[in-house]
Amino acid sequence: MTPEALNDALRSHPAALKLLSPLGLRAALPFGIPQQAADAAHCERQATIGQITDGTGLPLALPSLARCFSNLDPRESLLYTPQHGLARLRTVWRDHILASAGPGTPVSNPVVTAGITHAISICGELFTAPDRPLLVPLPYWDNYDTIVTMRTGAPIHTFDFFDGPAARTPRFNVAGLRHALDRLTGPATLLLNFPANPTGYSPLADEVEGPNGIVAAIVGHPHPLAVICDDAYEGLFFGPTTGPAAMYGRSVYGALARAADPNRHLICKVDGATKELVFFGGRVGFLTFSATGAAGDALAEKAAALIRSTISNGPAPSQAAVLHALESPTLAAEQEAVLSVLARRYRALKAALDEHGVPYWPFNSGCFCLLPLPEGMHAEEVRKRLIVEQSVGVIQIPQVNALRVAFCGIEAEDIPDLVERIGRVINAR
Ligand SMILES: Cc1ncc(COP(=O)(O)O)c(C=O)c1O
Repeated sequence: MTPEALNDALRSHPAALKLLSPLGLRAALPFGIPQQAADAAHCERQATIGQITDGTGLPLALPSLARCFSNLDPRESLLYTPQHGLARLRTVWRDHILASAGPGTPVSNPVVTAGITHAISICGELFTAPDRPLLVPLPYWDNYDTIVTMRTGAPIHTFDFFDGPAARTPRFNVAGLRHALDRLTGPATLLLNFPANPTGYSPLADEVEGPNGIVAAIVGHPHPLAVICDDAYEGLFFGPTTGPAAMYGRSVYGALARAADPNRHLICKVDGATKELVFFGGRVGFLTFSATGAAGDALAEKAAALIRSTISNGPAPSQAAVLHALESPTLAAEQEAVLSVLARRYRALKAALDEHGVPYWPFNSGCFCLLPLPEGMHAEEVRKRLIVEQSVGVIQIPQVNALRVAFCGIEAEDIPDLVERIGRVINAR
């Protein structure tokens, strides 16, 4: 479709039209080779696409390569995927989103991306620009600077992630979110990442759907707002499910998408196989919108146009492998087994931090915890000292002068020793 036709299809979702950047408004798939090849897919003589085949649609595969994918049909592993991603994979992932978001949630047909970073980058290109800021809680995954600001020139605006100091068991700073939204005067994008990197925090039930919760703050915002739910760590919830600290325990996408007014707000979900299927190298992510019908399809096509203009299409073997895994009857049990390993590490870390008196920001999910440093200690210096003096590697978070500890890659039995070593440096005064 032409850009004009796609933009016309977005009239049923006015917010999307108001939010698109100049590049987003221009984005469209031309009537090019993939479309012409798809039109002719059932022809007896197939002389469209430049794929090297045996004349019946099978790749002329090199055995040395093909045997690496011996469980996959060579057509799945060695030929091109569509720009939007494998059709069946898109349907299955949409069902996966609906299953946790709940019935009645508007969910477009997801576009498959080359990892979640790629999905965020597409959102950045579609919705941000030098005069269209990205709003994120601080601290945030530092790659957002590279993905968004470096590419589109959009400034990052921040508000404090927590509503008080670490020692007072703070919560997600919904009041800070409200104030930050109040300062916006035109179209903007808000990015919410739960379970969060680097804090390891996910909001509690009332922090999402309560009268002073995230959903109410966003729904009341008067200007066009795209909300990106970065659900990279979806499902990794370890905090309590009942009582006063009960976690919300699922993506905020569903509640936001159901409550959003399509005249002002568009909710985007980025997620993928990277952590949910422990397939880091597979590079399979998804981008989904709260716009449905023709408007959802138009946004998906704009995303596909950005894919066509950068990587042309995503990797076939990984998409095929993810589809097979999602259709496997044993997948849920396999994921549960990984979750219980991580939950053990999470509990071991909490216990060890308490035992060694190492202060930490609240964490209840994901892969990380964040350790605030005492006044006068500098995150980069402490990081270097931990390497040299204790043979411990952590990540410095200069945004809030803290250290990020990834507990997802350390055996539970080794965690007390890790914390003891960290404590020797942090508590050495
Ligand atoms: C918050 C967050 N979002 C997105 C990603 C990127 O995921 P992917 O590796 O699929 O690009 C990461 C990876 O570290 C992350 O921490």
